[in-house]
Amino acid sequence: MKKNKLSIIALVCLSVPVAGQTFDHYQAQTKELVISTKKIGAEIQPTMYGLFFEDINYAADGGLYAELVKNRSFEFPQPLLGWKAFGKFEVKDDGPFEKNPHYVRLFYKGHGHKLTGLSNEGFFGIGVKKDAEYRFSVWARIPDGGKAAMIRVELVNTKTMEEGHAFASERITVDSKEWKKYQVILKPSMTNPKAELRIFLEGVETIDLEHVSLFPVDTWKGHENGLRKDLVQLLADLKPGIFRFPGGCIVEGTDLETRYNWKNSVGPVENRPLNENRWQYTFAHRYYPDYYQSYGLGFYEYFLMSEEIGAEPLPILSCGLACQFQNYHISAHAALEELQPYIQDALDLIEFANGDVTTKWGKLRAEMGHPASFNLKFIGIGNEQWGPEYPERLEPFIKAIRAVYPDIKIVGSSGPHSEGNDFNYLWPEMTRLKVDLVDEHFYRPEDWFLAQGSRYDNYDRKGPKVFAGEYACHGNGRKWNHFNAALMEAAFMTGLERNADIVHMATYAPLFAHVEGWQWRPDLIWFDNLKSVGTVSYYVQQLYATYKGTNMLKLTMNKKPVTGSEDQNGLFASAVLDKDSNEIIVKVANVSDEPQALSIKIDGLKKKETLKGARAIKLQTDNILKENTLDNPYAIIPQESILAVNGNILNVTIEPKTFAVYVLKK
Ligand code: AHR
Repeated sequence: MKKNKLSIIALVCLSVPVAGQTFDHYQAQTKELVISTKKIGAEIQPTMYGLFFEDINYAADGGLYAELVKNRSFEFPQPLLGWKAFGKFEVKDDGPFEKNPHYVRLFYKGHGHKLTGLSNEGFFGIGVKKDAEYRFSVWARIPDGGKAAMIRVELVNTKTMEEGHAFASERITVDSKEWKKYQVILKPSMTNPKAELRIFLEGVETIDLEHVSLFPVDTWKGHENGLRKDLVQLLADLKPGIFRFPGGCIVEGTDLETRYNWKNSVGPVENRPLNENRWQYTFAHRYYPDYYQSYGLGFYEYFLMSEEIGAEPLPILSCGLACQFQNYHISAHAALEELQPYIQDALDLIEFANGDVTTKWGKLRAEMGHPASFNLKFIGIGNEQWGPEYPERLEPFIKAIRAVYPDIKIVGSSGPHSEGNDFNYLWPEMTRLKVDLVDEHFYRPEDWFLAQGSRYDNYDRKGPKVFAGEYACHGNGRKWNHFNAALMEAAFMTGLERNADIVHMATYAPLFAHVEGWQWRPDLIWFDNLKSVGTVSYYVQQLYATYKGTNMLKLTMNKKPVTGSEDQNGLFASAVLDKDSNEIIVKVANVSDEPQALSIKIDGLKKKETLKGARAIKLQTDNILKENTLDNPYAIIPQESILAVNGNILNVTIEPKTFAVYVLKK
């Protein structure tokens, strides 16, 4: 099938047997899906489908965060990692930014033909586009005073056969003995995904350089400390209701020292200290020695982006336990009597997000550019924790937060596994502690997803709500973003939707991966330095979020929910009502190898109500192991067609290995 991004194939589906089939044969095979509209079900939460962001796979520095210079503050343990310094230079550590003290001093080399300067390699190169604008900025001074000094800033392509390497070049005059920020706009004459940034000292004066930065001017919403526009647009297009950040395991840290410390991620960007990124070394078979967190993308930026893409922010904080996978001894964790600073971090974070501008942290938020509250409603304490050490730490957090902020909803963890001892221990503990939501994680193979269609059907309706906070289908030996994995997720998600009274949030994971810097796959969105692509799983998420509806509806086949159970021939289905658009939306995944005739019957329309028409939006492929790639990003995308209805019935055939959303207009 030819696939164009916005193609609408107008097919009129007649409610008669297809040529060559007898009516009886058709009837015998047709499966009746009955959707009852007599009783409108529970509300679907606005937070139902969303995003989970973690700085893994170069998702932040080198990814979403649009900074193009690596190690811009010379704070990596090897201060010149990512840089080449040439000529006469010195790395010094008494710079103007207390938490980032290193900088580079460049000296005249003693002869006009001898060169001193710096080159930065960026993240897998520096990606720039022809004629676009890039803001170069640097903190600089001439330490010896005296006459002004000059630097020449260039974007270079050292792989070219052209006469010269530079394809953008500007000069900056540094005229101050005190540290000052200088900036200039570079306009490349070519597109290059792997340029270098080069800085030459010109003249004879000594010069100091600190916080050397290069951003596209055209970031998301034009913010100077901005985010990559194409990547945020992909997020916004998912219509997310919730945005969980900043992780994942990086919340916990390999040790407490390296846990994500939100307080270090706010305030002037020049003074946010570097943190290690555990994904640098967690998988030694995909080792990235230059993977750090600059915190340039910090909690302010996360909150702002949540607001701008219309998602509720859900920050996750350390509960005082370092990553339990990496630390088996209790001494690695904060003892109960040492928890207070961690609890204070949580209270201060709520104040940072919501507090009045007269409060300490609310004032900082205002100074950063957002006097209005971010209206934070949720907070998560702990990521993948387990054992009694978790509830005993979580409890004092809950007490402290509830005492000051009784309306904030608290998310607890059910550990790293989708079932088993830790899971079975933690769920009752979370119920006992009265958390509002419990975060479940499952990176499981295809057969697991197929067997979990009814996972939530029998969950306790009185306990905490469910947050499916990290999940993705990891194929058996086929661990990439192929169509089949996405189809399994789509099938499984009918169970989330059917249980939307208790499943209040669901976020696929991980979100982003750089094609040259990934540690973990599958992922929802892949990118390189200039391009990005939504996987088929991305489009599954988008279909669920776009057609999430407002209320649950009961859908049955032979009076049973359609969960892919043995007698249901690989069918999974769920239905919702959209009160705003007056539509009934039916999602069906056919994971079998056979086409299946369906009669979708709306039971309970009021006397004067009829179905006016319908359309189908489908995800299909000729090869279930196919994927969308950077070079072929729209290989598998939703295709829409118009359908005819017959009274209160829609007759359709769903093809093998297909996910379909049927939208029936009342
Ligand atoms: O998403 C990758 C990792 O998977 C997360 O950091 C962690 O929570 C889970 O184990």
